[in-house]
Amino acid sequence: MKTLIVSLGQRSYPIYIGPNLIGQADLFDRHIHSSQVMVVANETVAPLYLDRVIAKLEGRQVATVILPDGESLKTMASAMQIFDELLRLKFSRNATLIALGGGVIGDLAGFAAACYQRGIPFIQIPTTLLAQVDSSVGGKTAVNHPLGKNMIGAFYQPQCVLADTTLLNTLPDRELCAGLAEVIKYGLIRDPEFFCWLEGKIEALLSRDAEALSYAIERSCANKAEVVAADERENGERATLNLGHTFGHAIETGLGYGAILHGEAVAVGMCQAADLSRRLGWLNDADVARIARLLKQARLPITPPAELDAEQFLELMAVDKKNVDGKLRLILLEKIGKATLPISVDVSLLKATLDDSVFNIK
Ligand code: NAD
Ligand code: GLY
Repeated sequence: MKTLIVSLGQRSYPIYIGPNLIGQADLFDRHIHSSQVMVVANETVAPLYLDRVIAKLEGRQVATVILPDGESLKTMASAMQIFDELLRLKFSRNATLIALGGGVIGDLAGFAAACYQRGIPFIQIPTTLLAQVDSSVGGKTAVNHPLGKNMIGAFYQPQCVLADTTLLNTLPDRELCAGLAEVIKYGLIRDPEFFCWLEGKIEALLSRDAEALSYAIERSCANKAEVVAADERENGERATLNLGHTFGHAIETGLGYGAILHGEAVAVGMCQAADLSRRLGWLNDADVARIARLLKQARLPITPPAELDAEQFLELMAVDKKNVDGKLRLILLEKIGKATLPISVDVSLLKATLDDSVFNIK
């Protein structure tokens, strides 16, 4: 097992990465200081792993909330279901909430933990690659609003993250690929050496080589932990973690939550960000092709959906947390391995990207 620390003073916490972590009662004992525990999971993950988690919580009052599966369920109504159950059972302020699932459950349960009695402790057990490398780390919690993704939320850090790599064995291939989009993101925004490593190891990752996957998770979490420690509330560098996300969130909202996977939408968005960076003279054609090639090798989409035209994109992109005074701001790439902070971009250049992001991959 590897342990990384997210250094945030009194709110610092460990990320444990390794196989069979949910079988280790001592990890739970170390971070749960109450007799009341609620596990939140969905109908896909619960049958696979809930019993194994509950078995290690012996001696405590354990409640569960099992929600239907899907991004479209990351709503205030689902958060209310969690509050209803916490209140019905009279769970008190020191009760611990465990999020067992992918990013949807992690964001939702984290949001519920942040709100219930103004904040109760919670633990992240991420079960998708995307959640292990990104969403479970850093304390961003949220639910979606029909008009904008993740628009209702809170910064709220977990007590620990248990990234049990064995749980990925049951993850569908398409979900694994969606997670690779966020892994590739770290290479693009701040770790050029990792980007090169990913180019060499993409086939090993797709075939779930355990050593390659563990290394990719560790390196991704190390990057994320550094960024979060430096800028917890996204006043600066943390915004770079949103490379491609303004485009990607527009795609997710525009197509309807759940119509495209988050990681897939981010992959398209990173290609659009790369294309715009080329139009600004920062990347060259070869750089853009290299980025699109790696994402395509990771079996991710690289062109925007035909259903959304430039006008619709602009409308949807106007609802974004990075916007200031109503002005659109984007994360772009100065080069592979270095992202910009959020910047305003000439609308005609942005429209050119939205009208025509075609990638010539040789
Ligand atoms: P997800 O939570 O919907 O999980 C993907 C699918 O995999 C679901 O059908 C789920 O039931 C299934 N699944 C999960 N674990 C499984 C397992 N071990 N075996 C079999 N099936 C499994 O999607 P996701 O990609 O994990 O997360 C996407 C969400 O994360 C989005 O809502 C996004 O906004 C959010 N996100 C948040 C942050 C953050 O910093 N908080 C960062 C990135 C993404
Ligand atoms: N995934 C973006 C962030 O955590 O800031």
